[in-house]
Amino acid sequence: MKIVVTGGAGFIGGNFIYYLLEHRPEDEIVCYDALSYAGNLETLAAAMKNPKFKFVKGDITNRTAVNTLFAVEKPDVIVNFAAESHVDRSIEQPDLFLRTNIMGTGVLLDACRQYGIGRYHQVSTDEVYGDLPLDRPDLFFTETTNLHTSSPYSASKASADLLVQAYHRTYDLPVTISRCSNNYGPYHFPEKLIPLMIVNALEDKKLPVYGAGANVRDWLYVEDHCAAILQILEKGRVGEVYNVGGHNERTNISVVRTILQELGKPESLIEYVADRKGHDRRYAIDPTKMQEELGWAPATSFADGIRRTVEWYRTHEAWWRHIINGEYQNYYERMYGHRAKLEYARI
Ligand code: NAD
Ligand code: DAU
Repeated sequence: MKIVVTGGAGFIGGNFIYYLLEHRPEDEIVCYDALSYAGNLETLAAAMKNPKFKFVKGDITNRTAVNTLFAVEKPDVIVNFAAESHVDRSIEQPDLFLRTNIMGTGVLLDACRQYGIGRYHQVSTDEVYGDLPLDRPDLFFTETTNLHTSSPYSASKASADLLVQAYHRTYDLPVTISRCSNNYGPYHFPEKLIPLMIVNALEDKKLPVYGAGANVRDWLYVEDHCAAILQILEKGRVGEVYNVGGHNERTNISVVRTILQELGKPESLIEYVADRKGHDRRYAIDPTKMQEELGWAPATSFADGIRRTVEWYRTHEAWWRHIINGEYQNYYERMYGHRAKLEYARI
């Protein structure tokens, strides 16, 4: 079988490629990636040595390039990770998110129709469901929760999901969708909470926590997400949505404190800063369908996962230093340079 992984030079797509090379050694894997600021060939350096793996540079919004990819590679399966993925950047520049996340998904779906495909899998997010109140721990997102988005990023991902479902209903395209909670682990670009806090703490820089740090995210080790996607490809029902998460809810401030403890760094590094616009309060996935229908469950506890992640950043300094020494400096200055500092009592 030949599997095209779009966006495979990014965080989760890169981890998924390594997961496939290990668990599906007979399959051929083609990574198709535009190498945006978030794409990184250093992430795929080890994969490049594997004869079952091939990298093709290309943009999912480029119809000609995508059609050529399909004509040449004749893939059996497409797993689409390619996206603009950072909420803060979507608040800065929504149009890029509409182009890549919606139009790009549309181009891939058209190619799947034209060339025929065994399965198109869309890697989506729990953010399509909006957020939950902080004072209702009994509420969770299920696959039938209404789509109710908050940011340009989540709106673009929800739009893409609707397109995927429309192509299934209208053209009978064999699709599946997974909606996962927040991932963490190796190769995570240091604009997102966990890698940003680890990298800043390693450098003894301030750790910018939005608002009071009371917002809640439901963290899943990236390998568990990869395992879930492979199980959906192997055993999932066509046309279905699967929520992926491991009931691991934590406030942002508790995650930051855990990272500081792991690194032996002081809490005085924490700096409360102006909140994100439209900041979603709480995400919490109900993964019952994945568990009961596919027998999936996360294998990595948060304690183990965060230890492994911190260790990975400690031992892969060259990987993140190449990122933070480049254009990232401008991004960091734009995002944090003039951000108001807040006074918060310890929560
Ligand atoms: P990422 O930003 O680390 O990687 C995105 C990848 O897509 C990069 O390699 C980039 O070069 C590539 N890309 C961007 N635009 C492209 C284009 N036009 N054509 C081809 N490639 C392009 O993202 P991630 O965190 O690995 O997320 C991957 C997918 O998983 C996204 O669709 C995201 O919405 C979804 N998701 C992420 C999380 C999370 O916690 N990170 C959770 C649930 C779902
Ligand atoms: O839930 C899945 C989603 O998780 C994915 O779809 C997105 O692609 C992914 O980026 C992630 O979105 P979040 O907005 O939840 O992740 P982020 O790491 O940006 O932020 C996590 C929380 O930490 C959020 O409440 C905002 C807060 N935060 C973030 C940053 C970057 C801070 O307090 N300080 C920061 O500097």
